[in-house]
Amino acid sequence: MSSTTKTTTPIPLSSKRAGRFDPKAKTACIRTFGCQMNVHDSDRIRRMIQDAGYAEVQRYEDADLVILNTCYVRENAVDRVKGHLGELNRLRREGRVKRVALTGCIGAAEESAALRQTYEIDLVLGTHNTYELAEFVGLPTMQETYTPELPGTEGGHNAFVTIMTGCNYQCSYCIVPTVRGRMVCRPMESVIGEVENLVAGGTGYITLLGQTVDAWRHEGKRFCDLLEAVSESAPRVWFTTSHPSNMEDRTLNAIGERDTIVKRLHLPVQSGSDRMLKVMHRGYKAEKYRRKIEVFREAAPDGTLSTDIIVGHPGETEEDHEQTLRLVEDCAFDSAYIFKFSPRRGTEAASLPETVPDAVVQRRFLEVLRQVEQNAFTRNQRKVGGEEEIYIRHGSTEDGKAIGETWSGHAVHVNTDAAPGTYVKVRIESAGPHVLYADETGTRA
Ligand code: 5AD
Ligand code: SF4
Repeated sequence: MSSTTKTTTPIPLSSKRAGRFDPKAKTACIRTFGCQMNVHDSDRIRRMIQDAGYAEVQRYEDADLVILNTCYVRENAVDRVKGHLGELNRLRREGRVKRVALTGCIGAAEESAALRQTYEIDLVLGTHNTYELAEFVGLPTMQETYTPELPGTEGGHNAFVTIMTGCNYQCSYCIVPTVRGRMVCRPMESVIGEVENLVAGGTGYITLLGQTVDAWRHEGKRFCDLLEAVSESAPRVWFTTSHPSNMEDRTLNAIGERDTIVKRLHLPVQSGSDRMLKVMHRGYKAEKYRRKIEVFREAAPDGTLSTDIIVGHPGETEEDHEQTLRLVEDCAFDSAYIFKFSPRRGTEAASLPETVPDAVVQRRFLEVLRQVEQNAFTRNQRKVGGEEEIYIRHGSTEDGKAIGETWSGHAVHVNTDAAPGTYVKVRIESAGPHVLYADETGTRA
């Protein structure tokens, strides 16, 4: 995780390398923008195109069909996608790419109709009707009303399991409730069933996914019940994203107590100022957030804590900003995603007065970033010299470095040829603000 603007760049979807493919086979290329929900949706899209007989390729110029699975959270997300659509039009004119589909959050937004016309997109789908892609790629039509029931990433070493979709909050700046709809929680048995299947198929790491996972509830059960049940079925578990108003002390304690839960908490705070938290309709005060963090630090002293922060929301004063800096210092985040406010059409904040000038936003952004990185660097330094058991998430690249994760949730670059999904023992040799660097000392399983 980094202390920079969050990903709107395409996320590489798998460890599969770009490369050879049968020139006679139908080919498809999937590009994913945005959050982990989108990564997960892309996994489902991948299953569909594979079932329809497409070979997956990594470059647009090798693809008959290109699927852009998009993010709409910030304005520049749309600009980036426009850049890709322009490039695809060129390839289409050269007779390379034949069809283009746009899915995900931009597909669910009003703006998609204009994009469809301008770029002659063949298919536009939102987040609730991804299953219609099946027909488009030549599969029998799927009748589906509840998206999370679609099969996920079976058999991969790391799998995302959606436990809820949508969001019942109405944060002033956020387009998610508009494009993803209200919260729908998936029944516990269905989640556990999927987790058990994945684990039986070799998955070693389950991430429970949703916009506000800790708001999950179903038939009298709450998120902590679900997390505990999953932690009994899976060898390694993490969850994201949470909302401070829903986060129960019980859950924070479970993170510390349960061996199979990664001790890493992502809890977006957005601002350290009560005044701004109110304008944003976040539903809590900074003091309540601080208390949650105290409970977490007590439950998992070695754990990692990350957050989301927005700078430059309309109305944010110097005093508000100072309070954010103070909160960042007090909470000593291990990492943070810092966002410059971006007005999203259809949200309340887009039409609020008192916009913050760009130069001020930029300065505040850098001040928060510096504060986060200082804290993170200091905390990471404390790990140097220690022995850790890490889970290999991605196997080594050409430079011989694999990416792993400690049980405390630290990202580690390690010199090893151990395969993804295995555990290795390492010694932490050095640390930067974002990652630890390690050498292998022994391998397990
Ligand atoms: N402008 C800037 N940041 C935003 N986020 C959501 N909407 C906006 C916006 N309009 C950030 C929030 C959220 C994260 C996923 O994206 O910090 O937690
Ligand atoms: Fe958006 Fe707020 Fe819901 Fe998070 S909790 S998805 S920021 S509306």
